[in-house]
Amino acid sequence: KQTGHTSLDYGFVNTAATRSAITYIDGDQGILRYRGYPIEQIAKHSTYLEVAWLLLYGDLPTADELADFDDRIRRHTLLHEDLKRFFSSLPHTAHPMSVLSAATAALSTYYEDQSDPNNPEHVELNTIRLLAKLPVIAAYAHKKSVGQAFLYPDNSLSFVDNFLRLNFGVLAENYEVNPVVSRALERLLILHEDHEQNASTSTVRLVGSTGANQFSSISAGINALYGPLHGGANEAVLDMLARIRDSGESVERFVARVKNKEDGVKLMGFGHRVYKNYDPRAKLVKESADEVLNELGVVDPLLDLAKELEEIALSDDYFRERRLYPNVDFYTGVIYKAMGFPTRMFTPLFAIGRLPGWLAHWREMQNDPQTKIGRPQQLYIGSAERDYPTS
Ligand code: CMC
Repeated sequence: KQTGHTSLDYGFVNTAATRSAITYIDGDQGILRYRGYPIEQIAKHSTYLEVAWLLLYGDLPTADELADFDDRIRRHTLLHEDLKRFFSSLPHTAHPMSVLSAATAALSTYYEDQSDPNNPEHVELNTIRLLAKLPVIAAYAHKKSVGQAFLYPDNSLSFVDNFLRLNFGVLAENYEVNPVVSRALERLLILHEDHEQNASTSTVRLVGSTGANQFSSISAGINALYGPLHGGANEAVLDMLARIRDSGESVERFVARVKNKEDGVKLMGFGHRVYKNYDPRAKLVKESADEVLNELGVVDPLLDLAKELEEIALSDDYFRERRLYPNVDFYTGVIYKAMGFPTRMFTPLFAIGRLPGWLAHWREMQNDPQTKIGRPQQLYIGSAERDYPTS
């Protein structure tokens, strides 16, 4: 209800814009649950599509429900050939996140007569379409940036294996998925699937609250995720680590520059609006980093550098007083790199991970009778009324 009192809340630090039954976070204790299930258990036992179902429909699927969901998604992985040509109108130097958001917005043009937000059949169909097509678009953005041909999806493969092949298969018949990479990627995607009202999810809700369709809302979410304070942080962490290594600067000196806020430099992959404790996702990612690199036989000095940075930061008063801990983005990049993804693909991977959460929130908003168009207030601080100069 409108109260007539506008309170100022930069960054929505204190204002809840909605009720939600999807994800629970206790930032002080470092707890994250999807639909009540602890993230640690989900990451161990689930698959990406199972979690997507859980987020979308509220409960774990039965074996039949999951098989049907998986099958429906497989049947929608193809992109229209015209949409494939859309990629050639963009420069090969384009950042894959820009390509991903542009192509997702463009998807809308193919389904204009099937995109009514108030039609449950359209909503269900476009949920499936987006889950099926976003990974294909992301893989094509990757292929484009390295100048390789787009492969057709291979629907005999699992969701994650198909994605890996679309990224790394050069000739369709000679690519074999490494099961270590596949399971590790699935686990990382699961850890990203939802995180309640973060900036990109709030963007999806805000755009959706105007009556815009799922393609437009998700495309807006992708753009919000692109920023380095949000999903773009995974790319920024690896750039930061590489810069420290290449410059020869000591970790201590770098941390001192962060503390002095020299040139606005931040320790990327650290800090969180909600977590004032170790991000539970970061704990799981850190375990994975050692495991995956060992199993792949990859030795990456950037992983040691990240661990050294973490150790120095966590024993420093600046970080302790501000309760800054590693977040989900701190260790993911090292793993993606070991899997063979270029740095610029890290944030698209986050987007694929987050897609089920965005869709679940869009649908929850759509079905909530309390939903109104999102429309923040402002406190006006500009000029008082004055007359337009006429001479
Ligand atoms: N390095 C150095 N100082 C920091 C950092 C950091 N990464 N994060 C926060 N601080 C300081 C900040 O300067 C402020 O200090 P002071 O009180 O002296 O002004 C204090 O800690 C509180 O920070 P804030 O900026 O008020 O916190 P916020 O809740 O507005 O911002 C954040 C949260 C995630 C944007 C911020 O911590 C940050 O910029 N981190 C680096 C980027 C990053 O890793 N983002 C990924 C977030 S997790 C995954 C995701 O959502 O995508």
